[in-house]
Amino acid sequence: MPDTLTNPVAEKPVLTRSSFGQDFQWGVATAAYQIEGAHSAAGKGKSIWDVFSAKRGKVRKRHNGNTACDFFNRFPDDLQLMQAMGIPNFRFSLSWSRLLPQGTGEVNQAGLDYYDRLIDHCLELGITPWVTLYHWDLPQELERRGGWTNRDILGWFEEYTALCAHRFGDRVKHWMVLNEPMVFTGAGYFLGVHAPGRRGFGSFIPAVHHAALCQATGGRVLKDILPKAEVGTTFSCSHVEPLRQQEKDIQAAIRVDALLNRLFLEPALGLGYPLDDLKFMRRIEKYMKPGDEEVLKHTFDFIGIQNYTREVVKYAFWTPFIQANLVPAKKRGVPYTRMNWEVYPEGIYHLLHKYSAYSGIPKLIITENGAAFADEVYQGQVHDPLRVDFLQRYLQQVLHAKQEGVNVQGYFVWSFVDNFEWAEGYDPRFGLVHVDFDTQKRTIKSSGYWFQQFLKESRK
Ligand code: NOJ
Repeated sequence: MPDTLTNPVAEKPVLTRSSFGQDFQWGVATAAYQIEGAHSAAGKGKSIWDVFSAKRGKVRKRHNGNTACDFFNRFPDDLQLMQAMGIPNFRFSLSWSRLLPQGTGEVNQAGLDYYDRLIDHCLELGITPWVTLYHWDLPQELERRGGWTNRDILGWFEEYTALCAHRFGDRVKHWMVLNEPMVFTGAGYFLGVHAPGRRGFGSFIPAVHHAALCQATGGRVLKDILPKAEVGTTFSCSHVEPLRQQEKDIQAAIRVDALLNRLFLEPALGLGYPLDDLKFMRRIEKYMKPGDEEVLKHTFDFIGIQNYTREVVKYAFWTPFIQANLVPAKKRGVPYTRMNWEVYPEGIYHLLHKYSAYSGIPKLIITENGAAFADEVYQGQVHDPLRVDFLQRYLQQVLHAKQEGVNVQGYFVWSFVDNFEWAEGYDPRFGLVHVDFDTQKRTIKSSGYWFQQFLKESRK
């Protein structure tokens, strides 16, 4: 562990921390299954990702999160590195099946102890924990009982939320209920490319409704138990544009925007599902019980915006399958990352304005933003100027929106360390810190040094 971190290749920050204001929150984000490893240690039950990644053909190169970054064992060193980098806020998620191996009922004492130690350690180092309740790793036992398609999940999720709030709420003051519900329902229950690998509207539509109900219910349970806590939830968001200024493309872009950016937010704000723009979702009404419109509503203290790219939409007559309407960055001849996602910093500016135009959102926090590249260690260093450029340009746009009056009050880089990128395995590297997955050696990338410098210099 170096005392002071110096990097010969670090870029000079073009922005200053102080231009975002004293109260702006800076941090890094992670998720349990992507970093913890220890998948079957210390009483943990199986999650849907343990089961999904063990199946042939589901994750690239048959990678899995069994060991990941071994954060479960290495967190004291990793947190020390975080502190040395001057990072004040750490977003991580709790593994439901580590706390409740069967999803409900019996509590795993070793799981409680682990998160106690993690939280205490953060606080001892002066790092503020920001906790996500659900970042995609549903206990397998609950999936066996129908998972997100079973309305009973409302009760299961309430029990889990109350357990976490009672146990950790004395020390955790910042909470997020769900991570990107559109992605875990869309990829997990419609496309089948994420756990649990289910496909079609018959799974997707009830999963959406139950996730939207849990989102608000989780918010209420946290607030009831911890009235002083700051409670938010997070959304995957992409600025959407039509490929051509033609009616069909414009209409297709409206549909994609409703699906990607509005479906989970608007019911929470009391606006209901955007069904006028999403006709194929109308059968969601079949799953609505009397009073659900009220249950769906909750005023969060903040909304977490997670943005990486923009989507450009071309109308496709032959399929209702919405992904087929998105024109890949490669085809458009624009710069893109290791995920094939377009680098489009202006997108975050447009999104911030879009969300700040809704009433009922007290503030916005960028709970994830970042980029994957195929970073390599060369002579003991990892030089990633593309990531530095990406982060600086996105931040410039965040600042621009803020200066125009958007109430954005925080920014978390995805991610602290390279980690398990779901169905893509370990090849896309998102970290400010490189991880050698054979040896678990950490190497701060030039982007990590850049962030450290940015946080330090402008504290003055
Ligand atoms: C969204 C997810 O929350 C996170 O788990 C994922 O690794 C990043 N975006 C990058 O895809």
